[in-house]
Amino acid sequence: FSHLPYLLKMERVLQDEMMMDVFNPVQHNSSNVMPQMISEATVPLLILTSLLVIIWNCGTKPSVPGPSFWIGVGPLLSYIRFLWTGIGNASNYYNEKYGDIVRVWINGEETLIISRSSAAYYVMKHGHYVSRFGSKHGLQCLGMNENGIIFNNNPSSWKQIRTFFMKALTGPGLQRALAVSVESTKNHLNSFDEVTNFNTHVDVLKLMRLITLDIANKLFLRVSLQEKEIVSKIKNYFEAWQVLILKPSPFFKFARLYKKYEAYVQDLQHSIEDLVQKKQQKLSEDEILEENIDFASDLIFAQGRGDLTAENVQQCLLEMLIAGPDTMSVTLFYMLMLVAQHPDIEQKIMEEIHAITGESEIQNSDLQEFRILENFINESMRYQPVVDFIMRKALKDDVIDGYYVKKGTNIILNLGHMHKFELFPKPNEFSLDNFEKTVSLFF
Ligand code: HEM
Repeated sequence: FSHLPYLLKMERVLQDEMMMDVFNPVQHNSSNVMPQMISEATVPLLILTSLLVIIWNCGTKPSVPGPSFWIGVGPLLSYIRFLWTGIGNASNYYNEKYGDIVRVWINGEETLIISRSSAAYYVMKHGHYVSRFGSKHGLQCLGMNENGIIFNNNPSSWKQIRTFFMKALTGPGLQRALAVSVESTKNHLNSFDEVTNFNTHVDVLKLMRLITLDIANKLFLRVSLQEKEIVSKIKNYFEAWQVLILKPSPFFKFARLYKKYEAYVQDLQHSIEDLVQKKQQKLSEDEILEENIDFASDLIFAQGRGDLTAENVQQCLLEMLIAGPDTMSVTLFYMLMLVAQHPDIEQKIMEEIHAITGESEIQNSDLQEFRILENFINESMRYQPVVDFIMRKALKDDVIDGYYVKKGTNIILNLGHMHKFELFPKPNEFSLDNFEKTVSLFF
């Protein structure tokens, strides 16, 4: 690079000389015909070359906007930003600075941050973006490397494991969710004092965590568990996830840096191991009827057939128990906050609930009639999302919205940013008007 100014200068001198040749052929000795022939041929050649360059530039895909590579400083700075400010903040920063499709680097790997709906839709709909990305050591420490579903970066293992989740989260499993949720909520509201400090303040987030864990247990595992203990272990596991997911390999050379998080992960893993053993014991004692086969039994039977390993069973159960509770509890907490801040909306929701259910217990068939409630849920998750990005990897070369994407490129779909800058009539306001009409061209 230190040669660059010199080379540029030389190029300019040569160009100047060439132009002199082109426009001042008379300066040459007229008895020497060769230079004159060259200069006569140069004009059409230059024009032809320029045309070819223009055509070439039109034909190739534009490069993705983003910070400059500049002798490797660009990749270093963008990685530091991700580690320092977190994935969500760093993604927002780059989308605001460079536009809705940006190229940065994470751990030296090219990474696209996408907050344009057409491109996000494209990624979500195509099978060669199913793989997740994250630091290999980080994922290993979390037990997620090529295991479980949420961050499984091995597409064939992810596909096989996904069938168990699909079965549990659709059909009869989904039908049962309403009654189970009503029962769990009622039970926990009846023991309110457990989450009330000094008889005055209700720890609403804790209450939501207990309810959602209880729902997950009743739907997917069905053994007795120490709710409060597991809730606090899930919280720690998520803290470990946030800290470890992008960390570079050298970080894992210093045990004292990650020991605490490793202990958090192992703590939850041990509890899940105990729960799997309890479930195995129960299965060996109970009569096996179709209605007894829940998610956990399905996994245990698959292990018995040799389709899954014991590590698969444990990690799947761990992820099913954390996937719902940690996301749902915070989402519900935000929703309750938004209801409290918007009494007019609360009134509308209550009127709709009374109009649809009257005095009777809510039924599955009622659910599709709750238009206002549905708008409220969508708008809450848009305005105050609990997870605002998705992390994927390109499994083959591709073109996204006109930009060439190399196999192996990391993709961050910055949905939180997209929902504040595209598609909605009042993007920065909490308003049910945002979901009054069918929202988008793509979703
Ligand atoms: C507000 C609540 C929730 C939010 C915001 C949320 C968010 C997410 C996100 C961002 C992903 C990654 C998606 C991807 O890369 O494509 C994910 C995956 C997943 N979530 Fe949730 N989630 C929520 C509730 C739940 C619940 C209640 C369950 C189960 C009971 C659940 C089970 C899963 C599963 C199994 C996956 C992996 C899906 C796959 O790889 O195909 N989630 N969730």
